[in-house]
Parts: sequence; structure tokens; C-alpha cells
Amino acid sequence: MEQYAIKGGNPLVGEVEIGGAKNAALAILAAAIMTDETVLIENVPDVRDTNVLIQAMESIGVIVNRIDRHTVKINASHIHDLTIEDDYIKKIRASYYLLGALLGKYKKAEVSLPGGCNIGLRPIDQHIKGFRALGANVRIEHGLIITETEELKGNHIYLDVVSVGATINVMMAAAMAAGKTTIENAAKEPHVVDLANFLNSMGADIKGAGTDVIRIKGVSRLHGSEYTIIPDQIEAGTFMFAAAVTKGDVMVKNVIPKHLESISAKLLEIGCEVEESDDAVRVVASKPLGHTHVKTLPYPGFPTDMQPQIVVALGLSQGTSIVTESIFENRFKYVDELTRMGANIKVEGNTAIIDGVTRYTGAGITAPDLRAGAALVIAGLSAEGITVVDDIKFIERGYEDFHLKLQSLGAQIEKVDTERELQKFKLKVG
Ligand code: EPZ
Repeated sequence: MEQYAIKGGNPLVGEVEIGGAKNAALAILAAAIMTDETVLIENVPDVRDTNVLIQAMESIGVIVNRIDRHTVKINASHIHDLTIEDDYIKKIRASYYLLGALLGKYKKAEVSLPGGCNIGLRPIDQHIKGFRALGANVRIEHGLIITETEELKGNHIYLDVVSVGATINVMMAAAMAAGKTTIENAAKEPHVVDLANFLNSMGADIKGAGTDVIRIKGVSRLHGSEYTIIPDQIEAGTFMFAAAVTKGDVMVKNVIPKHLESISAKLLEIGCEVEESDDAVRVVASKPLGHTHVKTLPYPGFPTDMQPQIVVALGLSQGTSIVTESIFENRFKYVDELTRMGANIKVEGNTAIIDGVTRYTGAGITAPDLRAGAALVIAGLSAEGITVVDDIKFIERGYEDFHLKLQSLGAQIEKVDTERELQKFKLKVG
């Protein structure tokens, strides 16, 4: 089983290029099947989640050509099946975006019902509510969500919770519904805006994405397009916090600084320097880290996908910090692993009370999910001695060449597959 072996202690220094946004790519790849014409998408991150979604698309007859590592050409004119098998949904929840895309285009779709996951229950009632409001019948049978209708009709939809996934799924279906749809209490995340821009580039008529009211005038067909996905806000934020935790100096390049405001604000608050330019952010951590309080919120609030990374930083800060997780109920599972590295954190319900320690010490730990896994790697980079991270398949779902990018910043990290390779790493780093 592949692991990351890390020898901590090197400050990260240098420049790192951020890739395309995984969560935008998942929505945009799915939406690309809504036209019979060819679509070219650039800046697709080469990570497990996007690759599994592409396989799910291929399984129903979509032709996907990789022009290069980050560019795909998609043609969905020969879809032969409207059912997405369980295997794909088990590997990647976001295969359910094909529900909105297929429903919009063919007025019918069947996708296996996603279960809970490592970060919480993750219901999809708001997706279903949205589809029903557009006139689709939705039923759940034998573990499948089956949705179909003769015609989708625009409607006024109020989402009871701010949901990225429901906003995306309903926006896709409504883009090809007859008449006008309004989605109120919509998610405002950058990837929601990116999807709206992509759909508009295919001929959709969507206004207001990025605010909490999205207005959609349905169109009967969408056409081909060429589109470049935005940079990944969370990959960028992860490297920004890696700089802070290792007391480094990192220029994070190819980003949209506006998307990083809540992250930059917290770094400034805990004593880092953050310099923004047009498409880069430099983080310098030359002073001891200070404590702060954080609550995760929908965009533009502090992202839940950055919660483990900030906890790792606050675990090394001076004083007591409180981090409240308000989006997912089970997103502190990694704290036990961090405690094994010497952190002093108490979790009560959705709140972590963190008493900063002066250092972490290396340990054998397991990545419980994608973002927590990345955060534990960062903890390992700052820790005294060797850290071995198991279950890195979770990290590879969303970070392309994570260890290689960290190596380029001076980190001592390697992917190892056998005990022998691990021993070799240990000998090499001394
Ligand atoms: C998206 O998940 C992201 N995934 C997640 O990123 C991210 O953590 C999350 O948004 C929040 O920002 C993708 O974009 C593929 P939600 P999503 O629907 O869409 C509740 C990562 O690490 N809810 O915005 O599933 C839900 O339980 C991943 O990259 C309902 O109650 O999240 C949660 O409490 C992990 N009913 C809240 O809304 C619904 O029908 C927000 O969830 C839908 C959601």
C-alpha cells in the first residue's frame, strides 16, 4: 500500500504552481455531456476524482480524448445509456452531477444513490427537491435515484441549506428546462460561478452565479465550447498553510487571490505575511504563529475544506484557539492522528479547542479523507523526525503530484510502496 514517508523540519521555500480546481472540473466535465457538439476543456487537474468521473462518462458512451495531461476533448453525441453504475458513485460522489446533466439533456437519468462518507451524512434532499420543482419525477428504487419527465419546466426554488452540489445539479437541469428558473439561497463558491460561465459559453442563459440568487432562462440546446477551468482555491490554500506551518516562504502561483481572501485573512491574523499580486500570493512565516478563532462557512466564509489545515497550524500556535465546523458533522476525525503527533486538541461536538504546542513529533498516521490527509502531511513536514502517512489514496483524489510539488519546495517527502522503500528513505534522510 502506498504511503508518504516524510522527514520533517525543512521550511518550505520557493514557488509552486496551482492546478485547475478539482471541484469545478467535476461539475464542468459532467456539464460537457449536455451538448452533442465537441467541447474542449483545459486546466483539468489529473487527480483520481476527475479521472473516475471521466471513466463514468465513458461507461455511458461519452468519447473523451486526452489532448495532453490537462486538456480533454469531450463528445457526448453517442450516449447509449442513462444509468451510472454504483461502482463510480462509490469511488466518487460527484458522479451524481451526471444526474442533473442527463436530466437536463435527455429528461431522464439513473444514478446510484451516494451513501454517507468520511466527513458526514451528506443527504441529497435539496437536489431532489430542485429536480421535483422542475417537474421531474424522482424515486429511489434498489439503491438508484431514478428521475424522469416528459418536460422540465422552470420554477422558483428555495434551497433550505446552502449546498454547492444541489446548486450545481439544479443549475444544470434548469439550463435546459423550458422557461425561467430562480434558485434562491444558492451556493456562491467559485466553482459554482465557473460552472455557470462554462454553461453560458455553451449557450445557456444563467445570471447571478456568485450571488445567492441565480436566474436561469432555459434553452433547448447547448453548443460546443472551449473553456479553461479556474485555479484550485483549496490546493492553493493548502500550500499557503504549508508555508505557515513549516515557517517557510512560498510563492503560490496561478491563483485568483480574491478566492483566497478568507484564507489570507486568517494567515495574517496568526502573524504571517501575505503579499498578493495579480495571480499569485506569497506567504512568509517568520514569526511564531498566534492563536485565533475560526468558524467554517459557505463561501465567502472560511472553507470547510481548509479546516484541517488551519487546525494543524493552530496546533502549533501560541495560546488557545477555537475552530467550529458548521458544514459537516464529522470532520474532526483526523484529530486523533494529530494527537498522536503531540497536538493538544479537545473536540466537543462540532468544536475543536486547541492549545498550541511548540512542536509535533513524527508518527505513523492514517489519512481519514482528502483534506485531513493533506493537513496531516503538512503536520509531518513540520514535525521532528519521521512521519509515515497511510491511505494516501484519499489525498490523491484531489491533489495532483502533491509530494512532487512539496519536494520542489524543499520538503523531504517520498511516496513509498514497500517496507524496503521506507527503510531506504529513512537511511537517505538520516
Ligand atoms: C462540495 O460538497 C464539495 N465537493 C466539498 O469538497 C465541500 O466540502 C463542500 O461542497 C462544502 O464546500 C464538491 O464540490 C465535489 P454541500 P457538497 O452540498 O456539494 C448539507 C473536497 O474535499 N446538504 O455544499 O456535497 C450537507 O450535509 C470536498 O473537495 C443537505 O442537507 O456539499 C452539508 O451540511 C469534500 N442536503 C451542507 O449542506 C442536500 O441535499 C453543505 O453541503 C445537500 C447538502
